[in-house]
Amino acid sequence: METLVSTWSRTSQILPEKYVFPIGERPGPDEVPLCQNIPLIDLSADKSQSQTIEKILAACEEFGFFQVINHGVSEDLIDAAMKVVNDFYNMPDEDKAKVYSTDPSKDCRLFTSSYSYAKEELHFWRDNLRHPCHPLDECIHLWPEKPTNYRNVVGKYSLEVRKLSLRILELIREGLGLESGYFGEELTGSQLMSINHYPPCPDPSLSLGLPKHADPNVITLLLQGTVSGLQVFKNGQWLSVEPLPHAFVVNIGHQLQIISNGKLRSAEHRAVTNSKESRTSIVSFINPCPETIVEPAKSMINDCVPLYRPFMFKDFLKFYEEKKGDTKALMNVYKIKT
Ligand code: OGA
Ligand code: NI
Repeated sequence: METLVSTWSRTSQILPEKYVFPIGERPGPDEVPLCQNIPLIDLSADKSQSQTIEKILAACEEFGFFQVINHGVSEDLIDAAMKVVNDFYNMPDEDKAKVYSTDPSKDCRLFTSSYSYAKEELHFWRDNLRHPCHPLDECIHLWPEKPTNYRNVVGKYSLEVRKLSLRILELIREGLGLESGYFGEELTGSQLMSINHYPPCPDPSLSLGLPKHADPNVITLLLQGTVSGLQVFKNGQWLSVEPLPHAFVVNIGHQLQIISNGKLRSAEHRAVTNSKESRTSIVSFINPCPETIVEPAKSMINDCVPLYRPFMFKDFLKFYEEKKGDTKALMNVYKIKT
């Protein structure tokens, strides 16, 4: 427990060496511009479906990132989820200790930095609570017992966010022209809830909440609350993703890039810290089942060559951890050399 940033940083104003990133990787002192053009997609039912699909596809091709509003997840539920995860992080240490674990094989756990805290050279300025959430009735008993409404609220939230993720995937499927039912249980049968907490940091210019990475899954829905900190790497530049109340940030994972044979891109992003207030983000990852074989969809390679070779998803995750955010090296493992 004493390794959690939220535990030890309460009584320290000094940034330990282990949190100081090298010059090329750290955010530096300059303010990053707020990105005005990250696409904003209105999912209201009265919008033309074909135009929505067009916009989503364009966003996935150009940015790999977009935000959705009028998405049907109730604002009250979103507020309740944000409140309960903050309540979780604000609990006394002895309550959090029940969920804390340094064992990466544990399904539900609270930990700090990355999977490999003990071995890593640099630590990330974040604590993380993560657990599976699908099928809900098979995993809810693993979740934190406190706050007492955690399971109820996060349970409802994860069901709604799953529904929305599948709705967006369905629009992407249509846009790509993949056969109906393409994103079935095999490709979406696993869902992980990952709750990041970034306490105020003594020097945000030197440290990172999460260094540059792209997500390894199919699709991510992220709720960033009201505090900014998420940045996306576009054309060699970092851009800050504006926190819009009750909007979800959607980003394309590596699996969707591979399935679409490179048509859609999984964008690199990071989380920076700030010195004034803590920030909490709730991230839902839709994953293939561990043994699913992932490969470019047949209909995406009709008139071109496949760019990636087939692999089992659980093997991909192993490489993902090994390559530590080096997207190029990771994708090179799966790229077919032409
Ligand atoms: C992630 C992630 C960013 C954030 O959890 O994969 O990119 O803003 N999080 O917390
Ligand atoms: Ni991410």
